[in-house]
Amino acid sequence: MTDTKTAKLSINDRDFDLPVYSPTAGPDVIDITKLYGQAGVFTHDPGFTSTSSCESQITFIDGDKGELLHRGYPIDQLAKDSHYLEVCYLLLYGELPTAAELEDFETRVTRHTMIHEQMHNFFRGFRRDAHPMATMVGVVGAMSAFYHDSTDIADPWQREVASIRMIAKMPTIAAMAYKYSIGQPFVYPRNDLDYATNFLRMCFAVPAEEYVPDPVLSRAMDRIFTLHADHEQNASTSTVRLAGSSGANPFACIAAGIACLWGPAHGGANQACLEMLHEIGTVDRIPEYIARAKDKNDPFRLMGFGHRVYKNFDPRAKVMKESADEVLDLLGVENNPTLQVAKELEKIALEDSYFADKKLYPNVDFYSGIILDAMGFPTSMFTPIFAVSRTVGWIAQWKEMLNDPAAKIGRPRQLYTGPTKRNYVDIAKR
Ligand code: SDX
Repeated sequence: MTDTKTAKLSINDRDFDLPVYSPTAGPDVIDITKLYGQAGVFTHDPGFTSTSSCESQITFIDGDKGELLHRGYPIDQLAKDSHYLEVCYLLLYGELPTAAELEDFETRVTRHTMIHEQMHNFFRGFRRDAHPMATMVGVVGAMSAFYHDSTDIADPWQREVASIRMIAKMPTIAAMAYKYSIGQPFVYPRNDLDYATNFLRMCFAVPAEEYVPDPVLSRAMDRIFTLHADHEQNASTSTVRLAGSSGANPFACIAAGIACLWGPAHGGANQACLEMLHEIGTVDRIPEYIARAKDKNDPFRLMGFGHRVYKNFDPRAKVMKESADEVLDLLGVENNPTLQVAKELEKIALEDSYFADKKLYPNVDFYSGIILDAMGFPTSMFTPIFAVSRTVGWIAQWKEMLNDPAAKIGRPRQLYTGPTKRNYVDIAKR
């Protein structure tokens, strides 16, 4: 970034020049780092709608164009021509790997997919009907208690080992959370399977018979992982950065990210969206739900619709929609009523001025649940799958923050409107 311009701020009869930085893409930013020291005022932006929290070189979203770039490469090209572990390499190291670099990376990930055997006990501490996200938050946080040789964030080698361990073990942990919730035995990872196939097998194989997923399903699973890998400074990534800014160990930071992702306004929307589509049930009931979504007195929102940044189609939703047709055709689920409702809902909403005026389009969560549902996953596994994929984004952003010499502990200020100083009153006098 270059500090070539200044912004003038006049406040309390004083004028201030603030540096303005021009990025390689996106809007200029005004550096207010010294504003409080110079002018004695804070800026106020509760949802960070106009605030840049950091400098980053990993992912860029052009919300108006509906474009998503990972280290400059468009997501639709990566989804079509690349695969998840190659995208992981790109996000972590900044460039597409050579064949030798990719083979080394995939080998390192593959050989870290098992978790410490004693960690199996953690799962048994949960009720069988615990939401898998609850289990994942607990088990991932507990990794801090097992992998002591990769918790010192000051050691670059330990940061690297922790990164590989997280990317490698998240599918295993997610699959174990699923198996535990349905009362089936854990299935160990296998080193002869690719990342997505290994995950599907750990979820759907049973000791009584082998499970070999159709390559189309493995490809669809890998594409879902690719589409969810990273997304600028979204809520869960910002959570991981904030946790990491205090020096917390990587497993604790990722556990914090999983917890934040769980919310229905964020990663939990894929589960909420499919449940909404199931509740709508048939195309003729769509107008009732559209009316509710537009009603200011009704808290109902169309799940899978709208986005803080995209004011056009989420490019991930476009790829996901194509995948949905492919997977459902393969599974012989023609005329899937849920997919029909989703497509009709999208059509009706996009023709409605309420959604058009507010630039509300389907986001990544609108179609993903339909594919996962058709693949046999319960809705409770949708957000855990999002967490598996997003782990590389969280890790890449966490590493970038730790390598940033300007990084310091995140500590926002506030607009205080509570009581001013007053003296304690004895209970007898209240
Ligand atoms: C993800 O940040 C990321 O990058 C996230 C993510 C990632 O990969 O990390 O992309 C993943 O979280 C995708 C979003 C998943 N969430 C949902 O699908 C839940 C439904 N969507 C909404 O809750 C909402 O659109 C948000 C949370 C996604 C965005 O909220 P914003 O940016 O704070 O927008 P807003 O709430 O200020 O909405 C602007 C207006 C409001 O109306 P007004 O008050 O201006 O009259 O649009 C309305 C909202 O009421 N609106 C909706 C709506 N989303 C916004 N109205 C009906 N249905 C919706 N879905």
